[in-house]
Amino acid sequence: MKNLFITAMMVLMGLQMGAQNVTVSQAKFQQGDDMNWAKPEMDDATWNNIDITKQWDKQGFPQNTRAYGWYRIHVNIPKSVFQGADQQNALVFNLPMVDDADECYLNGKLIGTTGRMPTNPAGFFCGVDVAQNFVVDVKKDGLRLDADNVVAVRVYNRGGSGGLYNNPLIISCPKAEEGLSMSLIEDSNGESHCDVEIGTAYASATSGTFTVTLTDRETGDKINTLPRKLSIKRGKPARIPVPYDKRKMCLLTATYTDAKTGKVLTESKQLKYVLTPVAPATPRFNGAPVWGVRPGSPVIYRFPVSGEKPMKFTCSDLPAGLQLTENGVLSGKIDKTAILTFTVTAENAKGKAQQEFTLKVGPDMIGQTPPMGWNSWNCWGLTVTQEKVMASAQALIDKGLADYGYSYINIDDGWEAPERNLDGTLDANQKFPSMKGLVDWLHERGLKFGIYSTPGATTCGGYLGSLGHEKEDAEVWNKWGVDYLKYDWCSYENVRVQENDYGFASCLRPHLLMQKYLRQQPRDIFYSLGPLGGTQVHLWGVYCDGNSWRTAGDINDTWKSIYNVGFRQQLGKSQYSSIGHWNDPDMLVVGKVGYGLGENTNGLRETRLTPDEQYTHITLWTLVSSNLLIGCDISQMDDFVLGLLCNNEVNAIDQDLLGKQADRTLKEGDIEVWSRPLADGAIAVGIFNTGETDQQVDMKALISALPSGQLPVGSGAIGERKRRRPEGFGGGSTIRDLWRQKDLSPNELNCTIPLHGCRYLKITKEN
Ligand code: GLA
Repeated sequence: MKNLFITAMMVLMGLQMGAQNVTVSQAKFQQGDDMNWAKPEMDDATWNNIDITKQWDKQGFPQNTRAYGWYRIHVNIPKSVFQGADQQNALVFNLPMVDDADECYLNGKLIGTTGRMPTNPAGFFCGVDVAQNFVVDVKKDGLRLDADNVVAVRVYNRGGSGGLYNNPLIISCPKAEEGLSMSLIEDSNGESHCDVEIGTAYASATSGTFTVTLTDRETGDKINTLPRKLSIKRGKPARIPVPYDKRKMCLLTATYTDAKTGKVLTESKQLKYVLTPVAPATPRFNGAPVWGVRPGSPVIYRFPVSGEKPMKFTCSDLPAGLQLTENGVLSGKIDKTAILTFTVTAENAKGKAQQEFTLKVGPDMIGQTPPMGWNSWNCWGLTVTQEKVMASAQALIDKGLADYGYSYINIDDGWEAPERNLDGTLDANQKFPSMKGLVDWLHERGLKFGIYSTPGATTCGGYLGSLGHEKEDAEVWNKWGVDYLKYDWCSYENVRVQENDYGFASCLRPHLLMQKYLRQQPRDIFYSLGPLGGTQVHLWGVYCDGNSWRTAGDINDTWKSIYNVGFRQQLGKSQYSSIGHWNDPDMLVVGKVGYGLGENTNGLRETRLTPDEQYTHITLWTLVSSNLLIGCDISQMDDFVLGLLCNNEVNAIDQDLLGKQADRTLKEGDIEVWSRPLADGAIAVGIFNTGETDQQVDMKALISALPSGQLPVGSGAIGERKRRRPEGFGGGSTIRDLWRQKDLSPNELNCTIPLHGCRYLKITKEN
């Protein structure tokens, strides 16, 4: 009778007992923020009652933006929660989901967080729609059995709906085997290995057998297996390094069988593979043999040459007005329109190489090939600092990326001071102690510097924009030595709404205004336009003299995004791209990215793209003449990403002097073929498997089916392209695999393309 009464009371209070679970859906609630509210003894009798399965604004509490609220959930946890359990050490607290971030305290002790509070040094991170399962140590975490416990949850709402939602608090006693976990951690630097880590979240130690299989994805060969015994304790996971050959396409499958419970854990991972051959030790010029500059503007150009260092650069026919340092940095100024051709020699202990180079001087000569470099946004977001920028710039040199033509170091949003000076100028904020010092440092090394702003009053990240201060901004940027401006639509939309004017002219006006002031500066500033919501900037960007414009919304590091931004949104856009005026499908998401919001403490994470997807990303982006702006922290770049970004034959497609962007030329089911003609008469072809299963592909049949405008012609100089259909594909054609840098034999043209993977070919018709 008594038990029945207690159960009935518990149901009324929103507290129920299942076989082993405790469920609570009611709490005390208060908006505001005070860390004392985490303490169990705090008196919350006067607080409001609230249902924790629905956000607070859905229960009549105000929908405050950037606001805190506290929940105090009272729960009596009976000893019977352990009835029949095979471990007595841990309970799992499954909290409701949180909109947008929280900290959870059990009797005053922090037991878990989801998302990140705005006060976190790594910045706010939204944790919405994430299950919150916190493991509580029965002995150490201050849990009280058969007594009142207070679960206090501090919630931060960034905007819109806020608070706990979705499910009640469920406290359960997990089985010992549920604490077991396996993760695969890869390191592809030097001797590559993938570490398999097996751990347990609960106090009971366990042991089991571990096996691993490495499968060569190309041949199907199983190349390694190791059976072994492991013992596992909480806080002391077993970590087994599995070495592998990074020149092979391997799949790792690890299996652990727990001796106590019989539980089997299995994880598989496609390992990173490097297709790009190692560069020769002798000098090799890797850049397009051309650079464009306006008359009277300073030339800043670093010859991208790989090979053993030290290396010495010379030029015997350097035009007057130009200087070339021994380190290969070209500088100087040419006052009149001219086409200047000269030969540069690079020499090291192993040999020498030469490049015939053309400097095009004229009012509309900048951006001869799509710009290559780095931008802070995809890795650091608004947490960018001068130190982080310097680290990537230094690594761009040290890791050899500058030897492949990456030369712009661009700061995205988040550099701006909170207020303008009295004279209307805008300084950098305290995260950038010396913008001028940074730019001088870059220029001395032949690198270039880019900045970010918007025609609106505020940027997309909420910093100050250029509205009403376009002239002052252009002048300050000139003083600093800016070489690139990313001008991003952001809040300019408000101006259009105010003026009720949505035509092309309203897009052009603010961009023409900034271009006017940029042109007044005595230096070249590459003018890159942002995505501008739905305004289709590719249709009019050329009329305000944009050098590139975004042809898609913001990218992120998922296949969904690569597919949408790349395969969908670039489709049919080749007609809008031309030399000096490039389509820009957004920056690269290979390597360690995360927008400053990644799960690691420093706000980064390993890109979520698989290795195959990363090859597809770079293949498609180089085919469509994209700006090649690296989006990761270069100082943490591994050999795999270096291989992706430093393949001279792949980059040569992006930088090809004909400047003709690829488009989709064939689609058969999930197989898409994108191709483009090249300056030497060859064609570049990307064959992509956009489907969800591996596909057998007859590459020869696909190439033969390409439309006639997409067939190679006999080699010839630019401008002398004669189109003729080759007599049957194959007769006299060379098919080169660009990633592997090797010509393919006829029996290599039938292949399997893994899901989301690709092949990248260059087809040359012999004369
Ligand atoms: C927009 C742009 C991004 C980035 C951010 C900065 O979203 O598309 O590339 O510049 O603004 O706030």
